[in-house]
Amino acid sequence: MSLLKGRPNGHILCVGHLCVDIISLCSTYPEEDQKVGTTTRRNRCIDQRWQRGGNAANNCTVLGLLGSKPYFCGTIAASHERSFIMDDFAKYDVNTEYAVVHEGCECPASCVILSEATGSRTIIHCNKDLPELAVDEFKKVNLSNFSWIHFEGRNVSNIREIIELVREYNSSHSESQPIIISVEIEKAKPEVEVLVPLADVIFVARDYAAYKGYTSMDDAIANIQLLAMPEATVICPWGEMGASACTGKKAIVRSPVFSPPKVIDTLGAGDTFIAATIYSLFEGKSLQESIRFGCKIAGAKVGVRGWEPLRDIITNIMHNFHAHS
Ligand code: ADP
Ligand code: FRU
Repeated sequence: MSLLKGRPNGHILCVGHLCVDIISLCSTYPEEDQKVGTTTRRNRCIDQRWQRGGNAANNCTVLGLLGSKPYFCGTIAASHERSFIMDDFAKYDVNTEYAVVHEGCECPASCVILSEATGSRTIIHCNKDLPELAVDEFKKVNLSNFSWIHFEGRNVSNIREIIELVREYNSSHSESQPIIISVEIEKAKPEVEVLVPLADVIFVARDYAAYKGYTSMDDAIANIQLLAMPEATVICPWGEMGASACTGKKAIVRSPVFSPPKVIDTLGAGDTFIAATIYSLFEGKSLQESIRFGCKIAGAKVGVRGWEPLRDIITNIMHNFHAHS
């Protein structure tokens, strides 16, 4: 299956959240009321850093590393963190023309604890007052620039209207290739399901599957398919189990996990999988090849600290990707 006929001319746009991640890599996950320092004995803080975060922002980082020059659309606070965020977007070749700046707000942030012992990532997120993207703000996007728009499933009532705008655009431009619409269903909230029937491609995260009580990738895919358009593609990554996917009534395709020598940093594994899978589908690869590529890049990501070391790894992987085109 190829969603797009031929290599599209337009770009990929990711719509969603942007924040700062304050990340502590600890030798083990701390106990309540424990003090963890760089030289403490029972547990040690090995590294601490700031990173640009948010699902859509992370999708853009990976798409940028893959060389696809993505666009980000979402809100950003005019706070002192803004220059850090904007410089970092530039480092990954992400276009921020459609980032909407809000004065007088604080930058959303996550405190993240990475456990070296288990590879877990514990995220405590807080958005005090930064507004979500408004429908009118999205209307400034020049849709003719894009071939694929990926939406983080949040801010559901606005995103629903925004997707409907994109669908209307597609109907009124039937002479050109329609913009592919994908959504990520991750947040444990009942209302996100409203977005499922509006998308061509649906990524169902394991967090959402757990919230709904889905017991496996197949179970999650079957349940989401009940809500999706008949020909929609449903893709489900599942941590160490790899990923599975299915289009309409076709057979389920699967990818194994690609384990790095050591799992070091799982923050953004799902975001990496989504970005790499979209990239591959966008390049005209099959669903099977694309989820495999998603797992390969996500497997490489969890083996390194943060994003930057992924740059060289991706350069090597891309050599083979294009060689088999
Ligand atoms: P999330 O970040 O949303 O929790 P998942 O844990 O489902 O995402 O992981 C997404 C993808 O990342 C998986 O399909 C897999 O390919 C890869 N991945 C996640 N954890 C590991 C791991 N421990 N080893 C190798 N790959 C992993
Ligand atoms: C990872 C992530 C982090 C951010 C959090 C927001 O998937 O996007 O970068 O802090 O999730 O929910």
